[in-house]
Amino acid sequence: MNPKPMKRIGVLTSGGDAPGMNAAVRSVVRTACENNMEVVGILRGYSGLIKGDLVQMNIRSVSDIIHRGGTILYSARCPEFVSEEGVMKGVKTCKENGIDGIVVIGGDGSFRGARDLSLKGIPCIGVPGTIDNDIACTDYTIGYDTCLNTIMDMVDRVRDTTESHDRCSVIEVMGRKAGFLALNAGIAIGATTILVPEFDYDIERDVIERMRRTQKTGKRHFIIVVAEGIGGTEELARKIEKETGVESRAVILGHVQRGGAPTCKDRVVASQMGNRAVKLLENGIGNRVVGMKNEKIFDMDIYEALNMTKTLDRELFDISREISI
Ligand code: ADP
Ligand code: F6P
Repeated sequence: MNPKPMKRIGVLTSGGDAPGMNAAVRSVVRTACENNMEVVGILRGYSGLIKGDLVQMNIRSVSDIIHRGGTILYSARCPEFVSEEGVMKGVKTCKENGIDGIVVIGGDGSFRGARDLSLKGIPCIGVPGTIDNDIACTDYTIGYDTCLNTIMDMVDRVRDTTESHDRCSVIEVMGRKAGFLALNAGIAIGATTILVPEFDYDIERDVIERMRRTQKTGKRHFIIVVAEGIGGTEELARKIEKETGVESRAVILGHVQRGGAPTCKDRVVASQMGNRAVKLLENGIGNRVVGMKNEKIFDMDIYEALNMTKTLDRELFDISREISI
């Protein structure tokens, strides 16, 4: 049996927002309109799906958003959607509003919701959007590049004052349980030490001793990058000060990391991924996720995607240890 082509689709953004989500929404809406499909914007992720909080979209409703951070559809975390009752409410909204399929832009939690909806007969396509880059099936998630560049800009500023005062700045970056942001930003800003949850560490050996070694070579200011999954950033700054005598400050970058205009890469990848998602739904194909492998856009089964694991690049980590001394 040939899959049934879709006439009316929905699009939502869910979980933590990410720069480039708007570019993805724009691409979804424009691709659908150009291919004679109707598009409905579902507000505030799965919460809006449950409540039936919908807006009709057209090619002009996504004008002037490609360069904007955040998401015009708003985002939310919706605990109710983790239950079957929640998912069934979402299915009801789709049935009542003639929504044949949904593009879900978000992280892997959002993909789980998309999988559950698909299981109940509403075909969904997941588009990876999260600053954390922690979705296993794809090399790249929308928002990651912008976030890395934001961290780099912020830490360059922190470096100025760290240097002026001969201090140590212990910088906590986002990433939930993953260290992709910490490792890559840490290298880009020349951190003396990077701590990530994926690799074992020892504060004495990897932070204090390394600082002492570099002090002997004349280094007087230090940047330590800590992934938020490690925790204890304030305590670490106090310990460093106590043990090395270098005045230390904890800098928790926080939500500035999630905002701002998307980089060129995020705009382009979001445009490609949104387009692919709609092309799949247009042909009646659901239950898949879009991703990027070796710079090429691909799609794969959503169940398989959710069973994959992703590893942090050990070689890159080892390089950081060798050169940041
Ligand atoms: P992200 O999508 O960025 O990983 P979350 O993990 O917060 O963010 O997930 C976003 C939303 O996806 C949740 O608020 C919830 O509505 C839905 N979701 C998360 N996990 C599941 C799950 N196991 N089953 C169904 N829905 C889920
Ligand atoms: O998943 C994106 C992210 O920014 C994580 O890096 C971070 O742990 C989390 O979301 C923060 O969530 P909230 O906005 O709820 O504080």
